[in-house]
Amino acid sequence: MTHIITGNSEWIESTWSKTDSKLCKVAVRSRFKLPYTVDENGVHNNRNDDMHWWWTNGFWGGMMWLMYAETKNEAYRLTAEESCKMLSRIFEEFDHLDHDVGFIWHLTEAARSRLTGERTARSAALLAAASLSSRFNPCGNFIRAWNEGTWPGIDCANVTIIDTVMNLALLYWASRETGNSAFSIAAQKHMDMVLEQHIRPDGSVYHQVVHDGNNGAFKEALPGQGYSADSCWSRGLAWAIYGSLISYVHTREKKYLDACIKTSNYFIANTAKTDWLPPADFRAPKEYFAYDSTASACTACALLELAKHVSVPEAEMYESAAISMLRAIDEKCANYDENTDYLVGLGTERCPREDVDRSKAEMPIIYGDFFYVEAMLKLRGNQFFIW
Ligand code: GLY
Repeated sequence: MTHIITGNSEWIESTWSKTDSKLCKVAVRSRFKLPYTVDENGVHNNRNDDMHWWWTNGFWGGMMWLMYAETKNEAYRLTAEESCKMLSRIFEEFDHLDHDVGFIWHLTEAARSRLTGERTARSAALLAAASLSSRFNPCGNFIRAWNEGTWPGIDCANVTIIDTVMNLALLYWASRETGNSAFSIAAQKHMDMVLEQHIRPDGSVYHQVVHDGNNGAFKEALPGQGYSADSCWSRGLAWAIYGSLISYVHTREKKYLDACIKTSNYFIANTAKTDWLPPADFRAPKEYFAYDSTASACTACALLELAKHVSVPEAEMYESAAISMLRAIDEKCANYDENTDYLVGLGTERCPREDVDRSKAEMPIIYGDFFYVEAMLKLRGNQFFIW
């Protein structure tokens, strides 16, 4: 731990104390929910009522496992376990499984298996990993994102999206857990494709790429979450930053560390321009400006982890940038009111060009809370690396 973190210890402890004090109450209130956002009164909604298979449904349980890993408070464990139970319903319908099974089961059942040794948790996470590895195209060396017909007019069999790199954590874990290297080989081949085709020379990224399914060659980039195909959606960049680091941590391949550094530097340079709270797209014109705190919360986690793998002067630079991002969230959009359910506001779900009503874009989203909590644990020296 460098002097950058120790120099911020007072702020870290006071932020952590407010977070834990609030979340142990929310854990009880929302125990039987799969929250995504909140209503006008700050009360969690419940995706188990309408979209039980939604890609974000693992973040609530994952956040509960993180809080349990740090505090050993049973309230967090009980809520995390309820979350795992609710998610098992997704397996009932095969067509709801896509590339996001890592977000769902790595953060919940794989975490449960690692923290409690429960065999049913291990099985559920391994089933999810088997499903993810079945999406690997061995001719093209990529993992397809979506199922047939998810987006009419798009060749879903041959589209990759940057978000998938976060899901690879599930494959690395499954490979170690079973001794079957097929999982990690698929993960690394996909990551190698991302280095060549999604990450641009300046460190920005394409969200969606269409490939030739027979040999994996780049055909075109498509517009997706950001302003346009060649703009830079900030959460997509955050996925690339943390995803590259996750691949580095699990394989020790230096090219993944280099990719993390390159993408991080682009993110830091651009986020410093907006007082450390990033826009949803770094290359959108001003009239499309909306904040996205989820991008910086995720990136802060990656930078704190990256700091463990670089020289001391570099580590200080990355830790300092991470703390600036987290302090900006704390000052501009954190909510410690114990009577409401969300922790971090100003997230942006989607920001495509045609979505012109920017005023409705910013909202609390569960993964903003998750990454803010993950970052707090890292700052306090917790060694449980959930990815
Ligand atoms: N994985 C979808 C998103 O980041 O919005």
